[in-house]
Amino acid sequence: MASITIRNLDDEVKDLLRRLAAENDRSMEEQARIMIRAAVDGQAPPTGRLDQIERALHDLTSLHGSTTPAIATAARISARGTLSGKRILLIIGGGIAAYKALDLIRRLRERGASVRVVMTPAAQEFVTTLSVGALSADHVFTDLFDRNDEHDVGHIRLSREADLLVVAPATADLMAKLANGHANDLASTVLIATDKPVLMAPAMNPRMWSHPATRRNRATLGKDGITFVGPARGEMAESNEAGEGRMAEPLAIVATVEALLDAGPKPLAGRKIVVTSGPTHEPIDPVRYIANRSSGKQGHAIAAALARLGADVRLVTGPVAIADPAGVKTTHVERAQEMRDAVEQLLPADAAVFVAAVADWRTENSAGEKIKKVAGEGPPVLRMVENPDILAGVGHHRQRPGLVVGFAAETQDLMRNAEAKLRKKGADLIVANDVSHESGIGPSGVMGGDRNRVRIVSKAGVEEWPEMTKDEVAARLAALIAERLKTIVV
Ligand SMILES: Cc1cc2nc3c(=O)[nH]c(=O)nc-3n(C[C@H](O)[C@H](O)[C@H](O)COP(=O)(O)O)c2cc1C
Repeated sequence: MASITIRNLDDEVKDLLRRLAAENDRSMEEQARIMIRAAVDGQAPPTGRLDQIERALHDLTSLHGSTTPAIATAARISARGTLSGKRILLIIGGGIAAYKALDLIRRLRERGASVRVVMTPAAQEFVTTLSVGALSADHVFTDLFDRNDEHDVGHIRLSREADLLVVAPATADLMAKLANGHANDLASTVLIATDKPVLMAPAMNPRMWSHPATRRNRATLGKDGITFVGPARGEMAESNEAGEGRMAEPLAIVATVEALLDAGPKPLAGRKIVVTSGPTHEPIDPVRYIANRSSGKQGHAIAAALARLGADVRLVTGPVAIADPAGVKTTHVERAQEMRDAVEQLLPADAAVFVAAVADWRTENSAGEKIKKVAGEGPPVLRMVENPDILAGVGHHRQRPGLVVGFAAETQDLMRNAEAKLRKKGADLIVANDVSHESGIGPSGVMGGDRNRVRIVSKAGVEEWPEMTKDEVAARLAALIAERLKTIVV
């Protein structure tokens, strides 16, 4: 069997491959394998010889003439320069996730940002100033009372000679200090002395994160105008515990930095895109309803990703427990009929992305008063009627957007159902995800969790995407939508 030696690829290809691999959390070999697979599956010339494989790889990663638009656009959108000229002051707190700050520095710098770093004494227990200084290519600041540092830069200049302050990992301690106005070391003093926006990426044990004191500090800091990214749910690095408290991945932090500094490319500027998200609640009576397990995380992430690319995003969301995405005009609804009405009012639009898990049925008549349990009468019988099919309605609408994207969450026959949906509903793309028990429901599954594995079904065929975070799926789908809209003239 032929094997591919990464070392032998030309420098440009190697460089792009390295970046894509790092962004997808894969080895370069794995990234190459996946891209070659994509090439073999569809678009590249027949392979078999290494030079053809290399050419396919080059085509796929090249910024021009790629045959895989999503990959090329994702590469272009995450390309160097989005933070060109921006100055970031990164404060590293003393938590296990401090090691991820090293990758964060690299990600920020490869986008053109300059990164100055302040490390707390506790942070230096986890990573060394040597590694941090090597990656940031700058002096690392650690001590409020360092005579040389204070003479050269000083804590006030340090806090102001930046466009944005990023605290990653933000420890429970650093959050508590800033929420309460403490300034007894360099990090806390810089944070309180700054006149620049601050982004915090908390990371801590789930019990620390859910402690009432931390909740209070988080709320106070939110009110004080601090932006937060994460924490995410998942396994803790230091123990067998799982829960909310993992630091957001470096790329998610970078995306938030780009959004805060409004620094990314805007291929969707001037485009209006309608997105639906979350579940619907179909009332049985004033206190009871029929719902589903959709959390809204994927739909909200897509709305945010489209907005980051410059789109005028109108989100229509069912009841969810997450915040409205920044920079997105959001309408809150409860029932499928309300969602349909809200969506239709937003037409015309350039594109519509239907991520919401809309209930197929509702009760024929919801009771005006709470249904009482009456001894001897048994349970009430609920007569169900069909809800409007919002995707099909818009897919065949006289004001149909140029691009209509539907989601198919299925527990069986995923591909057959997705392909049928594409045809019947008048959609251009169906994003199919498997919500069967294996890939799942709940905190670590697709519905409710933070990761997703999707396939993109279109008339041209099926594109399989590897498992990634919902934010990554969102970024890649937004890139694909930008690519598709380029060919649709308004
Ligand atoms: C092994 C180890 C891991 C730790 N991980 C975290 C963490 O992930 N998050 C956190 O808030 N504190 C963590 N701590 C506690 C902090 O290091 C401690 O509160 C310290 O005072 C924080 O200082 P700083 O906020 O100035 O960086 C950890 C401590 C140890 C010993």
